[in-house]
Amino acid sequence: MADTDEIKEAKMFHTDKPQKTEGFFLKGSNSLDWGIKNRLARIFNPVSGRTVMLAIDHGYFQGPTTGLERIDISILPLAPYADTLMLTRGILRSIVPPTTSKSIVLRVSGGASILKELSNEDIAVDIEESIRLNVCAMAVQVFIGGEYERQSIINMTRMVDIGNRYGIPTMAVTAVGKDMARDAKYFRLACRICAELGAHYIKSYYVEKDFDTVTASCPVPIVMAGGKKIPELDALTMAYNAVQKGAAGVDMGRNIFQSEAPVAMIKAVRAVVHDNETPAAAFDLYNTLKNQD
Ligand code: R5P
Repeated sequence: MADTDEIKEAKMFHTDKPQKTEGFFLKGSNSLDWGIKNRLARIFNPVSGRTVMLAIDHGYFQGPTTGLERIDISILPLAPYADTLMLTRGILRSIVPPTTSKSIVLRVSGGASILKELSNEDIAVDIEESIRLNVCAMAVQVFIGGEYERQSIINMTRMVDIGNRYGIPTMAVTAVGKDMARDAKYFRLACRICAELGAHYIKSYYVEKDFDTVTASCPVPIVMAGGKKIPELDALTMAYNAVQKGAAGVDMGRNIFQSEAPVAMIKAVRAVVHDNETPAAAFDLYNTLKNQD
């Protein structure tokens, strides 16, 4: 029933206090719309400003990758420790329980396999699917210098345009051809092109030399790609160096799920990314947790 009998006269307008207008915590993202910011804040932890994305989308071009043969068995136990799952709609619908509260980054480009030219991708998922699946961002591969460079860039800009309409951010994934140099000069070029053309954040590989110039010259957040499996201490060192040199977190797959102790590894990665733990301390944590298991 409406409270009409005793309407309170004392109102709290706080006329002496200006309303707070907070800036948004992510680099280059303050002018984005509310829905996009809200989704980004579910991917990136607003306290640390960083994310641990678990990439398990490899099957979209290479089939049942080692460690991903049975996602229900090997990956679902890792999900609680990831900030975000990066995957395809096929795996999301068939294996991930819809009761999850994890943020989802959906792979939306595709069309090529390891048997053909990888850069020959198209947009492979309708925007309606991303809306229906309640995703927090869409991932599009961009092949700067690749055979289908232009097509992959246009895939990305299309998703940025469509995503902006509905408040869904786009992550550009820089994909480097086998024969191309993986150096800071390349990643500065690739990341900057993606950012200039509207990507909300970008996945880039780490390079030993001058990675800080890659993050500095990119006006939006960069997350570090994991790459091939390397020893755990090396992977933790790479993640540590990347975040210390300006990355806003990691998007790692094989170095987590192909580890001897994947739960221990993802927890160690979290320590490096969110708590600034040194690689040595995180490796100790990894070994302790591994031995407990
Ligand atoms: C990259 O092209 C795809 O998104 C991969 O499936 C994913 O990024 C690979 O992750 P990682 O290299 O850490 O295994």
